Amino acid sequence: MDSKEKWNSKYKERLLKNEEPLPNKRLEELSTYLNGGEALDLACGLGGNSMFLANIGYQVEAVDISDKAIGYLQLQSEKKQLAIHPRMADLTDRWSLNYLKNSFDLVVITYYLDRSLFPMVKTILKENGYFFMETFYLSPTNEQKVSNQYKLKPNELLKEFGNWNVLFYEENEWEGRQTIFCRKSFSGK
Ligand SMILES: C[S@@+](CC[C@H](N)C(=O)[O-])C[C@H]1O[C@@H](n2cnc3c(N)ncnc32)[C@H](O)[C@@H]1O
Repeated sequence: MDSKEKWNSKYKERLLKNEEPLPNKRLEELSTYLNGGEALDLACGLGGNSMFLANIGYQVEAVDISDKAIGYLQLQSEKKQLAIHPRMADLTDRWSLNYLKNSFDLVVITYYLDRSLFPMVKTILKENGYFFMETFYLSPTNEQKVSNQYKLKPNELLKEFGNWNVLFYEENEWEGRQTIFCRKSFSGK
């Protein structure tokens, strides 16, 4: 089963439960920094983060490989009149997305790891734009049922984005997650 089929079948089951997708807790907590503009939610899933961001004033481009998730988010956006543009795309073929340099005020990635997206994130964010990422990492105490290939190394996001202005960083051993929230530094390092 390929990635698209796998996620479509997960979302089919999840949608039967009729539960509202929720935003990431840390993203919500950091919302005092978030003052609107253009946002990009990569691997958005059912769009909990996208809907939260649209509700606080962002115009959101939401990308995912699952047509089931994108279809759901499209319907929700229309129903709730949210400024979200859901887009089905394979991020491993990201150059076909054609995002321009310095075009987003915020890029969000939660629970999706593709390190080759980092150079694109650094390019498409505007000066002083924010980046939020959270996903699993190789925690010494937490054995998540996720293959190690989808886990960050300890301190990896800090090393990758540490020359930006890091506003929040956490490695939670018990939950096995790593979270970063940073601002593209003025010098564009
Ligand atoms: C664990 S879910 C995370 C969803 C959402 N960001 C969240 O935190 O709830 C991973 C998501 O990545 C998407 N995905 C997997 N491979 C992808 C690819 N190659 N291109 C785009 N999206 C992909 C899946 O469809 C799924 O929605």
